[in-house]
Amino acid sequence: MNATINLEKHFPVLLNELVSIISPLYGGTFIDCTFGGGGYSEKILEEVTNNVIALDRDPCVKNVAAKFHLKYKKRFKFYNLKFSNINQIKKDNVKAIIFDLGYSLNQISDLSRGLSFKSKGKLDMRMGLNDFSCDKVITKMSQQNLYKIFKYFGEEKYAKPISKKIVKLRDNKKIDTENLVEIIESIKKKKSGKNNSTKIFQALRIFVNKEISELINGLINAYNILPIGGLIAVVTFHSIEDKIVKFFFKEYSEVRNSSRYLPNNILVKQYFDQTKKKPIIPSFNEVKLNPPSRSAKLRFAYKLDNGCDFKNFVNNFSYLRDVENLNFDV
Ligand SMILES: C[S@@+](CC[C@H](N)C(=O)[O-])C[C@H]1O[C@@H](n2cnc3c(N)ncnc32)[C@H](O)[C@@H]1O
Repeated sequence: MNATINLEKHFPVLLNELVSIISPLYGGTFIDCTFGGGGYSEKILEEVTNNVIALDRDPCVKNVAAKFHLKYKKRFKFYNLKFSNINQIKKDNVKAIIFDLGYSLNQISDLSRGLSFKSKGKLDMRMGLNDFSCDKVITKMSQQNLYKIFKYFGEEKYAKPISKKIVKLRDNKKIDTENLVEIIESIKKKKSGKNNSTKIFQALRIFVNKEISELINGLINAYNILPIGGLIAVVTFHSIEDKIVKFFFKEYSEVRNSSRYLPNNILVKQYFDQTKKKPIIPSFNEVKLNPPSRSAKLRFAYKLDNGCDFKNFVNNFSYLRDVENLNFDV
């Protein structure tokens, strides 16, 4: 086997595993909520009876979408839209809704976007359709709020000293990507397996792109537009995303008493059929070929019924939404 991949092109993660789940539903419309380099959409469109509606918040993927329009004509539609607004798509009989969260290789390797700690220059981190960039967060956010962002979205042990040093240094000079990496390195002297900047950059990307609200609203609205029998499949890349997706499927799949004070025969309604509770992870070979795939997890479930209110789901993650809603008042 040829053990190299084209590093210029995004390598779709868990593609074969996804296809084996969705192929029994072939012949109809699939929504690809995270079009990116179009890897998933292209695979689905190989089957001529399939149509794809693709979304992406990043306007830069419009050129890839234009090529798809030429090739697949009416079988393909693209919207530059955040997936939290998926309910704006009016389409009956959707077979499956697919999310492949995070960033494409094209986004990360475009160093002008500041999504990577290898970037140079201004801190940006916007994926598209944002209200502000990372520069504003680093320049204007209070130390206490920076601390919360690093703690909750990065699970960073050194959240306090890093936030303090940013606030101390920003009075004298504008902090750019390289300066931020220097600050982190000056505090986290020890080398672990991961790059020292990984957690802080993850935290800032989540905050700038409101990824928690995007995911929570995206999942709820996907459920709302999906017919009974339809499938939701989600690929996550870090523990916070996975915690949210796991809860979403598990909480509304289990048949159990709504309260320990109720008799056993009163059961909570099931809204999902989750045939496989454990996530699907990439094979040893996939990780070898494409190391960034190592943290991917695929979870999926079929919709069983309408009318779920998702109250527990929303309440359970309100502590993360509160951090995402922190304001800039220093
Ligand atoms: C991991 S890539 C998807 C790669 C794609 N599956 C492929 O095979 O090429 C994730 C894509 O989702 C997009 N994205 C992330 N969050 C989004 C959101 N909230 N709404 C719409 N698109 C989003 C990103 O801009 C990026 O292009």
